[in-house]
Amino acid sequence: MISVCFVCLGNICRSPTAEGIMLSLVEREGLSQAITVDSAGTAAYHTGEPADRRSARAAKARGVELPSRARQFKREDFDRFDYVLCMDSSNLREISSLANGKHDHKIRLLRDFDPNSPKGSAVPDPYYGGDRGFEDVLDLCFAACEHLLEHLVQEHDLSSTL
Ligand code: 4NP
Repeated sequence: MISVCFVCLGNICRSPTAEGIMLSLVEREGLSQAITVDSAGTAAYHTGEPADRRSARAAKARGVELPSRARQFKREDFDRFDYVLCMDSSNLREISSLANGKHDHKIRLLRDFDPNSPKGSAVPDPYYGGDRGFEDVLDLCFAACEHLLEHLVQEHDLSSTL
């Protein structure tokens, strides 16, 4: 089983969106037995809350459900996940500092899997902005997750499990 955890700040907007999109792509490809998907936040402000209703509404309009409940990423999570995929450089710094040099190979920016985005690109935080920001999060996460899934299938030879 390959395990992926998406990480943002609050775990109510960006990482639950990436999680919901990835779940739907994994299911579409018949890979639910091979890939597990989760999300978490670097902060604990929203622990236990469902996805922000603006994220949930925008995702639903594209046929994507966001089942996640917010939780904070913990050091033990490094042992549970093969990929810890961050939305921006601030999330990446926080997670890298929690990892303390031990899990650097697992920690990446999500958009670095998208060959069409410049290296180091962020999924910008939509929380304090308007509806457009939530649509942008969906566009960016869809593009990156399609390439992430392609990478997982190649890297872990999952085409044989189809
Ligand atoms: P997220 O967005 O990191 O994409 O979940 C945010 C959610 C909440 C806050 C900031 C960003 N907040 O400051 O409460």
